[in-house]
This record gives sequence, structure tokens and C-alpha cells, in this order.
Amino acid sequence: MAGAILSAGGTAPVSVGFKPAEDSWNQRVISFFDRMAPEWDARMIIDEAKLSFILDAAGVRKGAVVLDVACGTGVLFPYYLRRNVARVIGVDISAEMVRIAAQKVADPRFEVICGDIQRIPVRSDCDCCVIYNAFPHFEDPRRLVASLARWLKPGGRLTVAHSMGLEALRRHHAGSAAHVSREMLSAEELAAVLAPWFAVDTMIADREKYIVSGKRKEIGLADF
Ligand SMILES: C[S@@+](CC[C@H](N)C(=O)[O-])C[C@H]1O[C@@H](n2cnc3c(N)ncnc32)[C@H](O)[C@@H]1O
Repeated sequence: MAGAILSAGGTAPVSVGFKPAEDSWNQRVISFFDRMAPEWDARMIIDEAKLSFILDAAGVRKGAVVLDVACGTGVLFPYYLRRNVARVIGVDISAEMVRIAAQKVADPRFEVICGDIQRIPVRSDCDCCVIYNAFPHFEDPRRLVASLARWLKPGGRLTVAHSMGLEALRRHHAGSAAHVSREMLSAEELAAVLAPWFAVDTMIADREKYIVSGKRKEIGLADF
């Protein structure tokens, strides 16, 4: 199934990167976000200054190869364009989210893959991996981080970021999304999850935002 065209209408190439997930967590996530997709962009409020701070912390800069994990409708795509990145791979498990993301930018540097990031074939040439407003929707944080380490070059940067503080995040995910969310880890807990693969150098958890970021250690893939 890898490489099959999902939507010919999109402006970015779209592929299906895996067999549909059979586990119940992912099935719940897919149906929840498929339902949310049509309204997603209309509900989005973006604080440009905060987002710019997050993208700086994530190392998103000119010439970077960016993996946007759980890209949703591609809310960050226009901001990657502004920063003149070399390439963007957006991955999301919800086909409805992906359909919208693929139509967001008409630029050959963008590619959108529909699949579980933990199960699609890895490309190990990314400079930055960004998980924006999505981390609580992964069932097993350690498994996720271990799989993302494989996508990054040594020295590449993994960033988990949210545009709200930890308390607000926890309240948010205890609401209507509780059945597709884990309680968000504190910055210290998340740093400990990253530590086997990443040298964590950024931990910010204030009332407005949450950012944990680190550089992939210089260890070979065989060590993972
Ligand atoms: C709260 S949305 C955030 C989307 C986007 N990052 C944004 O800020 O608008 C969370 C996204 O995570 C995606 N997701 C959850 N589990 C995933 C997985 N295993 N692989 C890829 N995407 C996943 C969902 O489909 C959903 O689009």
C-alpha cells in the first residue's frame, strides 16, 4: 500500500504510508480527527509571535528538512514556507486532515503522508522534527520518541511544542478529547523520555506555552 495515491486533487503529493491501523487507540484517534477536520482551520487561532518563538526553538530555518509529525490540516505549512525550508514531510493518521493539508500549499517541496508515524517507512535525513499541539494523542510516548529518533540526522532536533501552558493543556485534554488523549507529561518527565536519544537543551513550560526540545545524540541507528 505504501506510495498509493490517496487524493489526486491535492497540490502536494499524498501517499498512504501503511495498512490502516487495527489497534483501537488509533481507530479512536482516526475517527475523532476525521470528524474534527472540516472545522479545524476555522477554529484555529494563531498567535504569530508565539509560533515564531516555537519555530525558532525547533530550528526551523532556511534550508532545513522538516518532519511535521501529526501535521493535521497543515496549519504550520505556510510558516515553513515563509522560512524557506528545503523540504517538508507532513505525516498524519487522519485521512480527512491529510486531505486538507495536501491542498494548503502548492509547492513541490511539500509532501503529505497519511499514516501512523510509528509505522511508516523511515527516512533518516531530517534536520528538525516538530510535534505541534499533538503529543497527548500518542498512546506510548517512549515508543513515539524512539521512532522519531530514526527520522533525524545526528544533531537533528526533536521539538514537542504546545501553544498553551501545561495546566491548560491538561484541562483541554481531559474534556471531549479525553478518550483520545493521555495526560500531558511535565517538561521534566518528557525530557527524561527524550534523554536516551536526545540531548535536551530547551525546557519551557510557562502559562502561555510548552516546549521541550533536544538534539539527537551522535549514536548509530543500530544502538536504538
Ligand atoms: C490536535 S491535532 C493537531 C494537528 C496539528 N499539529 C495542529 O496543530 O493543528 C492532533 C493530530 O495528531 C494526529 N495523530 C494522532 N496520532 C497519530 C499518529 N500515530 N501518527 C500520525 N498522526 C497522528 C491526529 O490525526 C491529529 O490530526
